Amino acid sequence: MLGNFEYHNPVKLYFGDHALDFLDQELSKYGKNVQLIYGGGSVKKNGIYDEVVRILKRNGKNIIEDGGVMPNPTIEKLREGIRIARENHTDLLLLVGGGSCFDYAKAVSVSVNCPEDPWDKYFIRFEEPDCEIVPVGGVLTMVGTGSEMNAGSVITNHGQNLKIGHVFGDEVMPKFAIMNPKFTLTLPKKQMVSGIYDIFNHICEQYFSGSDDNTSDYIAEGLMRSVVHSSRIAVKDPQDYEARSNIMWTATWALNTLISRGKSTDWMVHMLGQSVGALTDATHGLTLAAVSLPYYHHIMKDGLPKFVRFAKEVWRVDPAGKSDEQAALEGLDAMKSWMQELGLTLNISELGANEEMIPELVKGTLILDGGYRKLDTEEIAEIFRESL
Ligand code: NZQ
Ligand code: ZN
Repeated sequence: MLGNFEYHNPVKLYFGDHALDFLDQELSKYGKNVQLIYGGGSVKKNGIYDEVVRILKRNGKNIIEDGGVMPNPTIEKLREGIRIARENHTDLLLLVGGGSCFDYAKAVSVSVNCPEDPWDKYFIRFEEPDCEIVPVGGVLTMVGTGSEMNAGSVITNHGQNLKIGHVFGDEVMPKFAIMNPKFTLTLPKKQMVSGIYDIFNHICEQYFSGSDDNTSDYIAEGLMRSVVHSSRIAVKDPQDYEARSNIMWTATWALNTLISRGKSTDWMVHMLGQSVGALTDATHGLTLAAVSLPYYHHIMKDGLPKFVRFAKEVWRVDPAGKSDEQAALEGLDAMKSWMQELGLTLNISELGANEEMIPELVKGTLILDGGYRKLDTEEIAEIFRESL
């Protein structure tokens, strides 16, 4: 049965190679003080920063610089961003970057007017904001997380070896996102494929759960086929606009709350990957790629009909003359070949993890129960060992 749900996604999107032209009309809705958030400098090298600054100036905005948001943004950087916003009475948090900048901006937005430390309030106790939220808007330059159209925010606390995501309510979603696929063309291949796998896994996390006949699963299969098809073109020719634009759009739909409506979801690959990220600071999508296959092999028998369906519908495995288990395994093998085609890292040792870290990795893994079987800590340790 399709479960009961609410659906409301208020994010305004501007998509295409002229999307930045719409920034003027968005800026007119907000006050003078714009906190300009960006990462380690890619946007200065590729010229997007200059274009955005030019638009801000012609709209008479007071630009408050807030660069240096690192991939996997930290709690220390978050505290700095809150201080900057308070000191400058920020009216709009405008970011130019990827998921890290979006996540960081959302975390700042719910903390500026909140007296409590955000780590305990939002990432340990998972409370909702009870203070005025500063609006967030963004220019997307890295594709994968879907953060441009959701209310998620993932923050890393290296002191506690924890990387934790909080999915806030709709009011924390960005007010607008500007999505020009051309802005992603300067991404290094490692980031491009990491983002592609992040997209694919977001869909898997919502697909591998439940057994009902659910419209979301049909949409999920279409999105998976689209990302596999476009990624094959993009790895051969990273400058292919059609492929890159389809990948950008698929990323948004993979995690904008649509395909989880009316069904249960898993998210254990992300819990395992985030634990690796907390200890190694490795690139998000690569951590997911490195733990996925061992995890799916562990739970395959528990969700066998869905894994057979995945093999048939996503990977075009012909089940004739095969047992369900054989067909399901063929699907996972096809997924592995695709991951290898992309050049993804398939083990966590290449990301800086080792055998001695396993107890800490297990400790940092939040155990969820939405998937086909709830894992215990021993099995989680086994999965990490198999991922080495
Ligand atoms: O920092 P700069 O110099 O800008 O370089 C960035 C960064 O090193 C670079 N980059 C971005 N756009 C570029 C570019 N380089 C060249 N040309 C461009 N156009 O790419 C690197 C990665 O950027 P980042 O924003 O960190 O990547 P991503 O979008 O994958 O975001 C990762 C963060 O999002 C979280 C992850 O855990 C991680 O912390 N996630 C957020 C989610 C959400 N809000 O729903 C869900 C995801 O599952 C994920 O957990
Ligand atoms: Zn992800």
